[in-house]
Formats: sequence, structure tokens, C-alpha cells
Amino acid sequence: MKRTTTHFIFAVLPMVLLVFVISCTKQGPQGTPGVDADAICGTCHNVSSDIVAKQTQFGASGHATGSTFERNSADCAVCHTSQGFIERIENGTDEIAGDVSNPVHINCRTCHNIHLDYEESDYDLTTTAAVSLWIDGSIFDFGSGNICANCHQPRVPSPKPEIGGEDVTIPSPYWGLHHGPQSTMLSGTGGYEIAGSMSYTNSQHTNLVTEGCVKCHMPDPYGNQAGGHTFNMTYSYHGHDAVWQEGCTDCHTDGNELETLIADASDNLDVLLVDLKAKLITEGVLDSTDHVIPGTHSSLLAGAAMNYLFVLEDRSKGAHNYKYAEALLSNSIEALP
Ligand code: HEC
Ligand code: HEC
Ligand code: HEC
Ligand code: HEC
Ligand code: HEC
Ligand code: HEC
Repeated sequence: MKRTTTHFIFAVLPMVLLVFVISCTKQGPQGTPGVDADAICGTCHNVSSDIVAKQTQFGASGHATGSTFERNSADCAVCHTSQGFIERIENGTDEIAGDVSNPVHINCRTCHNIHLDYEESDYDLTTTAAVSLWIDGSIFDFGSGNICANCHQPRVPSPKPEIGGEDVTIPSPYWGLHHGPQSTMLSGTGGYEIAGSMSYTNSQHTNLVTEGCVKCHMPDPYGNQAGGHTFNMTYSYHGHDAVWQEGCTDCHTDGNELETLIADASDNLDVLLVDLKAKLITEGVLDSTDHVIPGTHSSLLAGAAMNYLFVLEDRSKGAHNYKYAEALLSNSIEALP
């Protein structure tokens, strides 16, 4: 897919440039007096590998390789298609007029204003505004990482269990926070906060990593495996997945120490996830494949299942907000019979 685009640019660009230059001499877009059209396009399409590097990385990103952009109905397309996202941001609401025909997966245009002014400023992000999270209206404000939170946030489960609230009737095995709750995990909100022996505090990342997602997921890349526009955190190292630490080293100066922190956080959460899962299965609210069992459940049981899915689907193994994840799981385990 990406290779085709790259070839396409090389094949078509000279022609387009020619047409552009010719059309400028007739009645094309008003150019800046004294500025050569070649120079306009050449700001980005030049002999350097800048665009190619980003394309190479992006081609390996889940955004490019994933297969969910066919989810083009209006309520899904706002996160799953490029056009739906752009329309939503332009509208300034989280809604779009209708389904997106000819859906396109997330690409350069989703996050940058490609070919808007034909200037370097086109690389500005389509949005950097703080995000009011759907689940509870709390504000997520992590600089250039805000763009990610528009999509990587929970959808509001229906029904949503409330602490001390009434029983809830769960309609479908796919009930939960949807699959990308990373922003609420990082900001430490949106869980079903059962009172227990652990208090709900946040890890230092919530307080100190001011660029949020971008700081850790988009540092200088490791080929097209991790970092940069791959957005990936791990790369293959002698047959196992290792975390790409490029974005961590400002704060974690000792790489070996960091590996221990990562392993401990991951192992501790795994133990808690296994314990909680066993209880949720015994209580009849979860099946062994991590799907919720439809039916009427107490608010506590549904909330504990929601917490389990929250930490599981966050998938950061504790890196996003270890303390919040640990408290949600521990207090859920404690509260269940
Ligand atoms: C600010 C940087 C920038 C400038 C200036 C710019 N482009 Fe592009 N152009 C891009 C990017 C980024 C892409 C998309 C690459 C991708 O989708 O992988 C692109 C894609 C293209 C493509 C491939 C088809 C498409 O739309 O994706 C053509 C053709 C093209 N540009 C022509 C031009 C011409 C002609 C000019 C001058 C009038 C120009 N560009 C100016 C950044 C720029
Ligand atoms: C327009 C919505 C949207 C935006 C903006 C967005 N993402 Fe995504 N992201 C998605 C979707 C949808 C997927 C899953 C794609 C698929 O599998 O089809 C995804 C996948 C990913 C993955 C790959 C997960 C995996 O399974 O390997 C990572 C990592 C990621 N996003 C990080 C980010 C970061 C970091 C940002 C901000 C710089 C960001 N995303 C911005 C919607 C978005
Ligand atoms: C708020 C943004 C948002 C909305 C709205 C949304 N999704 Fe998603 N969805 C995501 C993100 C982000 C991911 C990827 C999460 C990750 O990789 O961690 C995802 C992942 C998925 C997946 C892949 C699950 C998996 O296990 O790999 C499917 C399927 C999916 N969504 C379907 C839908 C459908 C159907 C709708 C509409 C009814 C919808 N989504 C609405 C953000 C959204
Ligand atoms: C999911 C959102 C997303 C997508 C898709 C995306 N980018 Fe970016 N891009 C970002 C973010 C975030 C930054 C960092 C901005 C910052 O730190 O202010 C960035 C930075 C850049 C920069 C400036 C980086 C630098 O070295 O200063 C360029 C150039 C760029 N992107 C090009 C591209 C191209 C080309 C594509 C498509 C192949 C693309 N981007 C796709 C989010 C995205
Ligand atoms: C402190 C660094 C850090 C920050 C900040 C951060 N992440 Fe992560 N993220 C990680 C690590 C580490 C992993 C786990 C990698 C592994 O071991 O599988 C991860 C995992 C993920 C995954 C699962 C897929 C994958 O690549 O492993 C997604 C999706 C994701 N993060 C998205 C986000 C989003 C969106 C944000 C912002 C709301 C964010 N992250 C903020 C470090 C970070
Ligand atoms: C802005 C600074 C900063 C950055 C960037 C950062 N961390 Fe941290 N991290 C901290 C601090 C401070 C602690 C708390 C250390 C302690 O308690 O000893 C911490 C703790 C952790 C922990 C232990 C669990 C927890 O949250 O208490 C893990 C795991 C971790 N970091 C992983 C990462 C990874 C992986 C990256 C890069 C992808 C990263 N960190 C980037 C500052 C940072």
C-alpha cells in the first residue's frame, strides 16, 4: 500500500509539477510574487528523504496495517476513518453528518493539514486542543499527545455501572470501555473506583510526561519497528519484544534499571489480572475468553468486570499509569467474594 503511494509520487510528481508550473503562468492559484512554484512544492518534495522516512515508518504502524477502517458508520468513523476524524475536528463536535463512503485509514492527512497552504505550516497538527473525555467529561491535556486522546479513549458503556448504584443489565458480550482506553489510564480516570485498601493515586508519568503519548511512542525511531511514525513501543530483539527506550531516557537514565521496572510492573499486574479474572468467572460475569456474560448483574460485579477490561485493553502493562491500574484491580479483587 505504502510502496504504491511512494511509487505513485515518483511517477506522478514531475508531471504534476509541470502542470502546476504551467498553470501558474495562466490562471492557477495565486503564487507569491517572485517565488518559483518549484520552490513551493520543493519545501517538502525535495531531494531529501524526509517524507519517505515518515512514510516508511507509518507503513508499519497499526494505523496503516490495521483492518478496522471499514467501520465507516457515523458513530465508528469518527475514530476509525480519516475523513470521519477530519470532519469531527472541523465540526468542533464529536459527531459527523453521516456514514463515510470510500473510507480511508488514518494517514498523514488525518493528523496534518497536507496541501492546505503548501507551506511548512501544513505539518501543524489538525488539533492540539485539550480533550474532554467522553466517559466523565474530565479534561485530558497533554500537549501534542492530545490528538491521540480524541480516539484512544473509552466509549461510554451502556449501561454504565455507578458506585453504589442499581443492578445493570448488560446486553452484549462486547460490553465494556471499547478497545482503546489509553488516555483515561494515563490521566487516571474513568475506572469504577471501589473503595478499598489502596487509594487511587497516579504514577509519576501522569504528572511529569507533559507531551503524553507522543513523548514515549514517537521519539526518534528504531528503523520501522518502533518510535517515530510507527507509534509502536516495542521492537524485536533476539527473538523477544523489547521496549524502545528512546523516549524514556530523559528521566530513566539507567536502561537496565528501567527494564527491571518494566518487568516488575508487568508481572505484578499480570498476577492481579489472573486473580480478578478467576473471581469474575466464578461470579458468572465473565467468560474465559474475556467477554462479558450478558444478563443482570450487580453494579459491583459489572464495575469490577469493567475494571478488568480497562487494564487488559490498555495494554501498556503498567507503563501508562501503574498506580491507578494496580488500585483498580486490587480493590476489585478485595471487594468480590
Ligand atoms: C508541507 C509539505 C508539502 C508541500 C509544500 C507539498 N506537498 Fe505534496 N505531499 C506532502 C505529503 C506529506 C504528502 C503525502 C504523502 C503520503 O500520503 O504518504 C504529499 C503527497 C503528494 C502527492 C501524492 C498524491 C497525494 O496527494 O497524496 C503529490 C502528487 C504531491 N504531493 C504534489 C505536490 C505538489 C505539486 C506540490 C506543490 C504545489 C506539493 N505537493 C507541495 C507534502 C507536501
Ligand atoms: C483518528 C483516530 C486516531 C488517532 C488520532 C490516533 N489513533 Fe492510534 N489507533 C486508532 C485506531 C482505530 C487504531 C487501530 C487500528 C486498527 O487496528 O485497524 C489505532 C492503533 C494504534 C496503535 C497500534 C496498536 C496495536 O495494536 O499495535 C498505536 C500504538 C497507536 N494507535 C498510538 C497512537 C498515538 C500515540 C497517537 C497520537 C500520536 C494515535 N494513536 C492517534 C485511532 C487513532
Ligand atoms: C472514541 C473512538 C472510537 C470509536 C467511536 C470507535 N472505536 Fe473502535 N477502536 C478505537 C481504537 C483507538 C481502537 C484500537 C485500540 C488499540 O489498538 O489499543 C479500536 C479498536 C476497534 C476494533 C479492534 C478490536 C480488536 O480487538 O482488535 C474493532 C473491531 C472496533 N474498534 C470496532 C468499532 C466499531 C464497530 C465502532 C462503532 C460502533 C467503533 N469501533 C467505534 C476507537 C474507537
Ligand atoms: C496519528 C497522527 C499522525 C499521523 C497519521 C502522521 N503524523 Fe506526522 N506527526 C504527528 C505528531 C504527533 C508529530 C509531532 C508533532 C510535535 O511534536 O509537535 C508529527 C510530526 C511530523 C513531522 C515533523 C517532525 C519533525 O521532524 O519535526 C513531519 C514532517 C510529519 N509528522 C510528517 C508526516 C507524514 C509524511 C505522515 C504520513 C506518512 C504523517 N506525518 C502521519 C502525528 C501524525
Ligand atoms: C510513559 C511512556 C508512555 C506514555 C506517556 C504512553 N505510552 Fe502507550 N505504551 C507505553 C509502553 C511502554 C507500552 C507497552 C509496550 C509493551 O510492552 O507491549 C505502551 C502500550 C501502548 C499501546 C498498546 C500497543 C503497543 O504499542 O504496545 C497503545 C495502543 C498505546 N500504548 C497508546 C498510547 C496512547 C494513546 C497514549 C496517550 C494517551 C500513550 N500510549 C501514552 C508507553 C507509554
Ligand atoms: C518525564 C519523565 C519520565 C519519562 C519520560 C518516563 N518515565 Fe517512567 N517513571 C518516571 C518516574 C519519576 C517514575 C517513578 C520512579 C520511582 O518511583 O522510582 C517512573 C516509573 C516508571 C515505572 C514503574 C511504574 C510506575 O509508574 O511507578 C515504569 C515501568 C516506567 N516508569 C516505565 C517507563 C517507560 C517504559 C518510559 C518510556 C517509554 C518511561 N517510563 C518514561 C518518569 C518518567
